[in-house]
Amino acid sequence: MIKRVLKWAGLVLLVLIVGLFGFAFAEARAFDSSVGRVYDVPLPKIERATDPAAIARGRHLAESLGECMICHGDDMAGGRAEKMGPLGTVILPNARARAARYSDGELARLIKHGIKRDGHTVRLMPSVSYTWWPDEDVAALIGWLRSEPPAAGDPGVFEVRTMGKVLDRFDSIPIDQARRIDHEHLPVAPAPAPDASYGYYVGTACRGCHGPTLSGGPIPGAPPDLAVPRNLTPHETGLKGWSYDDFTTVLRTGKRRSGEPLNEFMPVKQLDNLNELEKRALWAYLQSVPPKAFGGR
Ligand code: HEC
Ligand code: HEC
Repeated sequence: MIKRVLKWAGLVLLVLIVGLFGFAFAEARAFDSSVGRVYDVPLPKIERATDPAAIARGRHLAESLGECMICHGDDMAGGRAEKMGPLGTVILPNARARAARYSDGELARLIKHGIKRDGHTVRLMPSVSYTWWPDEDVAALIGWLRSEPPAAGDPGVFEVRTMGKVLDRFDSIPIDQARRIDHEHLPVAPAPAPDASYGYYVGTACRGCHGPTLSGGPIPGAPPDLAVPRNLTPHETGLKGWSYDDFTTVLRTGKRRSGEPLNEFMPVKQLDNLNELEKRALWAYLQSVPPKAFGGR
């Protein structure tokens, strides 16, 4: 009797395992075909800015909202290895050296549509967060990128393993950018103003970690040792009772109101680099969202 049960249990387990492999295989295939797709998206009519004020604006974007330097390094020369564990191997490329082979329009398309020069999606670089950038800002960023000569060499490596591919399909880690962008209807932000409607756009990147409703909670599929984003809504478990000063103090000091230092996964330095108008807009937006309990959808 016991033997028969064990035999059945073994068979069920076998079917499950085969099913799981089949499933992972199908998802990995879907990833490969999407990443292999060549997009036919026209080049935006954007030319690099050359005046010093615009180049300063470009640097500001790279240091703050763009988070370009977090990944490509202060000199944009790449070389840092992204911590990917079993998901794959990524060494950041030399962005200036690669940009030198792009036209201005091709770079604008890379930034706003997540499409590389060869028509394939850019991987892991968060173009989904840049789609709303006004053309002048993109022109400023390109002007800044081209304002310094590229460092020599290009250390870039990009390899995704099956686990990374499956997690991309599950939206746990957005590797494939272009498939997540509606290329015919890019969002259009209002003119910069210290209000919630502009703040919604400035807060695009926050939603990537703190969740679509900003209520925080573990990022789906994230490794268990990754810090858990907090609740940013005006709820008891979130930022209820916070003042604008409390908010900017957190960004300036990198410490929570309790004095506890924030985990480095939260990009405080880049957010503190936002200017006064951007911070005011962000704060107005955070106060305007409906209060939600921690992790609530
Ligand atoms: C999360 C990390 C990350 C951030 C933030 C990031 N990049 Fe990248 N970037 C990458 C990776 C990874 C690649 C290589 C992607 C690939 O090969 O598909 C890349 C590639 C590039 C390339 C070369 C594209 C090519 O043809 O290989 C340029 C240029 C570039 N990035 C510029 C920028 C600029 C400008 C910003 C800021 C607006 C930025 N990156 C922000 C990770 C990042
Ligand atoms: C890459 C992921 C990531 C992004 C992007 C991100 N955060 Fe966070 N944030 C976190 C994590 C993780 C924590 C919790 C860190 C800890 O507990 O030490 C956190 C904590 C915070 C806190 C502290 C809350 C508290 O209760 O003390 C504030 C405020 C905050 N984030 C605001 C923002 C804003 C505003 C944005 C967008 C402009 C943003 N974050 C973008 C990951 C992120």
